[in-house]
Amino acid sequence: MAVAFSGDPAAGEAAFRQCTTCHTVTNPAGEMLAGRGLAVGPNLYGVAGRPAGEVEGFKYSASMAAAGAAGLVWTEDQFVSYAGNPTAFLREYLADPRARGAMTHQVRREQESFDVYAYLATLAQ
Ligand code: HEC
Repeated sequence: MAVAFSGDPAAGEAAFRQCTTCHTVTNPAGEMLAGRGLAVGPNLYGVAGRPAGEVEGFKYSASMAAAGAAGLVWTEDQFVSYAGNPTAFLREYLADPRARGAMTHQVRREQESFDVYAYLATLAQ
């Protein structure tokens, strides 16, 4: 699937290192394309353009499951905004001030999230 992105995939590969303490990128053939085999977070293979909360076997927070059920899809915009502050994003998306996501990491420089999105999109092409 072609996914629109505006970041730089090469810069995203470097920036993705901050994600690998929790995420891998493993394709359907079972090859790990990125990451260190740690699965605190869901597999991010094909996350660009994918509905939220859909990795089979991963136990999402109730808030992420609710956002997925409500129709959240990881477009570039949603992804960048989520990565900057996951719990704040879910609170706004669900219009629930008590919503809480399970991802504690926050990307401080927004450009890095654009770049990581581009990197993840190209890995799944
Ligand atoms: C400290 C561990 C940790 C780090 C570091 C981390 N994440 Fe996560 N991530 C998680 C967890 C746990 C979840 C599940 C969230 C939930 O269920 O609320 C998650 C979920 C996600 C999702 C939703 C995926 C889906 O299947 O719907 C995206 C997108 C994501 N992370 C991107 C990133 C990116 C990009 C980085 C690096 C910039 C990153 N994460 C760094 C732990 C982490």
